[in-house]
Amino acid sequence: MKSRKTIERSLGALAFMASCLFAGQAIAADAALIGDAQAAQSKISMCIGCHGILDYKAAYPELYHVPMIAGQNAQYIVAALKEYASGARTFPTMEAIARGMSEQDMADVAAYYSSFKK
Ligand code: HEC
Repeated sequence: MKSRKTIERSLGALAFMASCLFAGQAIAADAALIGDAQAAQSKISMCIGCHGILDYKAAYPELYHVPMIAGQNAQYIVAALKEYASGARTFPTMEAIARGMSEQDMADVAAYYSSFKK
């Protein structure tokens, strides 16, 4: 039969392992928000019509000014999308699009667009 001390020790080890698990989860959650430019390939189809990609003429610039986001800093792109989603920055189409995006979507498209050289 295990002595009381051994049980206490194994409980302590369990608690330690559990805290590592939580820390691991926190790290994983952060890592999930690192954009994946590859995963963005399937998500940017709704952006390129307006923002275009390098060497790709967008259909809309003649109608209104669409900012160039290729080559833009990833943090800037995510921040801008969150501002549209929250309504802090207003532009009807961009608000609608940003609201439909998860944080992961934002991180992915930001990684994709920022991977272009200006
Ligand atoms: C219907 C056209 C349209 C579509 C589709 C569209 N955008 Fe936009 N986007 C705009 C316009 C116009 C602006 C500038 C709005 C403003 O003045 O705030 C803009 C602004 C932005 C900005 C801010 C740029 C800056 O320099 O501040 C980002 C980032 C952005 N869009 C990302 C995206 C992403 C990512 C997608 C696809 C998921 C997307 N947009 C789809 C038209 C569009």
